[in-house]
Amino acid sequence: MSSARGDNARSSASAESIHLDVPSESVERTRRLGALLGGLLARGDVVLLHGELGAGKTAFTQGVGRGLGVTATVNSPTFTILKEYAGRLPLYHFDLYRIEDPGELETLGFADYFAGDGVSVIEWAECGEVDGEEAPWGPDALRVRFERGADTGRLLHFSAIGSGGRRLLGGLADAVAREVG
Ligand SMILES: Nc1ncnc2c1ncn2[C@@H]1O[C@H](COP(=O)(O)OP(=O)(O)OP(=O)(O)O)[C@@H](O)[C@H]1O
Ligand SMILES: [Mg+2]
Repeated sequence: MSSARGDNARSSASAESIHLDVPSESVERTRRLGALLGGLLARGDVVLLHGELGAGKTAFTQGVGRGLGVTATVNSPTFTILKEYAGRLPLYHFDLYRIEDPGELETLGFADYFAGDGVSVIEWAECGEVDGEEAPWGPDALRVRFERGADTGRLLHFSAIGSGGRRLLGGLADAVAREVG
């Protein structure tokens, strides 16, 4: 018999659940986790990705695209900051690595996307945040921190911000539990 959360994921208690840790042993597993999330996303949702170069943020976003039914190849928007893909909902894939001042998001017109018709997945999200100020994408988001282990090992640490983040976190915890159950 398998546990409600499966053997593979650790989550704090459901109603108050704000954390979920899921190990990934391969790039394909990371894409699969992204695809599970992609299946849950609704208009206006925001996903914040953090982790060092090569941690797996773009791989995860490729999975989100798969879960959203994006057929085009999702690749890194490092040089353009934003790439947009058509799917069940538009996918706005940001990479803020080259943003030097979070205010640039507003002046370059990118902030409009966060309230747009699609979902925003934001690599290097910390480059768009200022301590103590409301984030340009508003008060709800799902945060994902990627920690590198040995070789292809990664730990994906999900945390919820606001009610929108909790909805996604709960849905993802259920989806991960179902797939191993
Ligand atoms: N478990 C894993 N999950 C994700 N990627 C993995 C994993 N194991 C190995 N990899 C490899 O790590 C690399 C992750 O690259 P990716 O472009 O997704 O990183 P990134 O976090 O987006 O980096 P950057 O900050 O440069 O944008 C790929 O080459 C992928 O094949
Ligand atoms: Mg990347």
